[in-house]
Amino acid sequence: MANRLSKKRAIITGGAGGIGNATGKLFCAEGAEVVLIDQDSNALEISRKHIYDNCNDAKVVSIIADISDEKSVIGAVEKAAERMNGIDILVNNAGIRKFSFLTDSTTESWQDILSVNLLGTAFCSNAVMPYLRQSPNAAIVNVSSVYGVIGRKNMGQYDATKAAINSMTRTLANEEAENSIRVNAVCPGGTLTPFHQARFAADGMDEEGINALQSDITLMKRWATVEEIAYPILWLASDEASFITGAILMVDGGKSAM
Ligand SMILES: NC(=O)c1ccc[n+]([C@@H]2O[C@H](COP(=O)([O-])OP(=O)(O)OC[C@H]3O[C@@H](n4cnc5c(N)ncnc54)[C@H](O)[C@@H]3O)[C@@H](O)[C@H]2O)c1
Repeated sequence: MANRLSKKRAIITGGAGGIGNATGKLFCAEGAEVVLIDQDSNALEISRKHIYDNCNDAKVVSIIADISDEKSVIGAVEKAAERMNGIDILVNNAGIRKFSFLTDSTTESWQDILSVNLLGTAFCSNAVMPYLRQSPNAAIVNVSSVYGVIGRKNMGQYDATKAAINSMTRTLANEEAENSIRVNAVCPGGTLTPFHQARFAADGMDEEGINALQSDITLMKRWATVEEIAYPILWLASDEASFITGAILMVDGGKSAM
């Protein structure tokens, strides 16, 4: 490992989930100090311990917070900044999904998903900004989705929040460039996480059936691993990407090129 995040202090939201855990582990392996934020306290502790146990000298702590609650976010970010003596990187990764046709969506389901995916991303970005402005080379990486760029059926509310995150990425990149803060997004395609595995298992699907779901809809003919999403996040967060801001990076096995 090359210490690509040496001396960097990072917050990763959704740190208890599949991509958040993989990103936290990679950041620690590359020398960053990491605060994982999530609302699921049990899963968060499992994630933190997994990183600590699998990465030599990992500097990783966890803070429980609900990103849809601005006060909770401000409190968590203040704690993280105190703990690490500043913040250089924010990975806005926490998110929820809704499965329904747009015409079946309700006021409650809209409020639910907007409050986490969209407002949560905005609250976290706003709360870290005073700290990032004090960092010489700060970065935000937003975890969007390939479906924030291309269309499909059945997850329109989720897809709309991801398109909005891409838009916020470009706007914040414009507004914060003068403060040396880069803002980029990754757009993952289907990424096999424990969440998906549990969902498909509950539907009675076996491994062959799960693999078949992606085989015709990506050029790579398979799911991404969580590490394949974590590496582009690492790169965008690192100084290696020092001339990249406002970019929406497709990490989708070629899906958007089909
Ligand atoms: N896995 C995929 O196929 C895929 C594809 C494209 C984009 N993404 C995006 O990547 C990100 C991570 O996805 P994942 O697959 O690892 O999902 P995941 O469900 O495993 O993890 C999401 C995490 O966010 C946390 N979270 C949800 N609401 C929260 C809140 N209000 N406050 C704090 N934490 C909250 C959850 O507890 C969970 O730990 C999400 O934004 C998702 O939309 C995932």
